Amino acid sequence: MLKSCGRKLLLFLVGCMFTCLLVLMADQQKRQVGELGGEGGRRALQSLASPRRQPQLQEGEPGLAPREVKSFTDYFSELSRGRREAQGAGSLAPRREGTPRPALEDITAQDVFIAVKTTKKFHKARLDLLLDTWISRNRDLTFIFTDGEDEELKKRTANVINTNCSAAHSRQALSCKMAVEYDKFIESGRKWFCHVDDDNYVNVRTLVKLLSGYPHTQDIYIGKPSLDRPIQATERISENKMHPVHFWFATGGAGFCISRGLALKMSPWASGGHFMSTAEKIRLPDDCTIGYIIESVLGVKLIRSNLFHSHLENLHQVPKTEIHKQVTLSYGMFENKRNSIHMKGAFSADEDPSRFRSIHCLLYPDTPWCPPNVVY
Ligand SMILES: *[C@@H]1O[C@H](CO)[C@@H](O)[C@H](O)[C@H]1NC(C)=O
Repeated sequence: MLKSCGRKLLLFLVGCMFTCLLVLMADQQKRQVGELGGEGGRRALQSLASPRRQPQLQEGEPGLAPREVKSFTDYFSELSRGRREAQGAGSLAPRREGTPRPALEDITAQDVFIAVKTTKKFHKARLDLLLDTWISRNRDLTFIFTDGEDEELKKRTANVINTNCSAAHSRQALSCKMAVEYDKFIESGRKWFCHVDDDNYVNVRTLVKLLSGYPHTQDIYIGKPSLDRPIQATERISENKMHPVHFWFATGGAGFCISRGLALKMSPWASGGHFMSTAEKIRLPDDCTIGYIIESVLGVKLIRSNLFHSHLENLHQVPKTEIHKQVTLSYGMFENKRNSIHMKGAFSADEDPSRFRSIHCLLYPDTPWCPPNVVY
């Protein structure tokens, strides 16, 4: 009697546990389905639909197929991971790329169009240094955009473009030059557009290596943001209608690159005279306008790279052992102090204050004017 009672109790308890389990499972599923309706769920779904590291790349690209989700458990763990990423501040920040990714496309330096923005006043003071150093090895991919005729300069390099823009350092004059750079790039038919300033050293070998990790037909915008948060701006929709916008942009002073695929999409806002009118609409400088068109209008995210450097960062912080891995370098003034790459090099800081000659000898030791057997 007591034994059969005990067995009944045991059966009853097992039944209870089973029911409990069922209820718990149903509840869990309901919660997850509920979350799908929210913003987090939508983002999680989007992140499922495309490879997580490349939110702006489209599906169907060879080698970029979305990760296969094998089971329901996988599906839900993928969902919650996507949700965590969507909730974390990290998802709002641009993607960060440290070292170049493995090559995806077999490109050469001839596939790249490098626009160097300058002004007549700096042809001697700044351009001569670039022509002696990195441009000397990359004449046919470097295009100099300036604002005045200079026969001496044209003798040194073929690709000099007089933009006929004002020589003033105004927003309009800078946008005017960027507009010409864009049009000349489209005309060139090349795969990658890169913009730099006349105080940048470009390591073309690492630049090509970096770009070869991305498909040029897709939407790629890569550079270094000058701020640690998106810029806030006001879009002028009409005479008295304003609209707040925020977006990331790559600082022009560190250089940035845009794939041909993306550049073509920018055309309605960037080609012909449109770049100038777009810049007027948000009243921001040329590099911000590029970021506005790409992030705010086209919804493509900036890929952040710490291999690009402007004179507005402490260049002493670039480690000596990493100099050859950087894509762009710079020199100038920062917080009222002379700012340049810190290295021993072939020349002293007095002989070579920008350090560009020493950097060039490090990268191209066979240059005739580089002293032999330098220890770095
Ligand atoms: C600048 O003006 C010159 C002379 O009128 C012209 O030949 C040249 O094409 C112009 N440059 C651009 C980029 O429009």
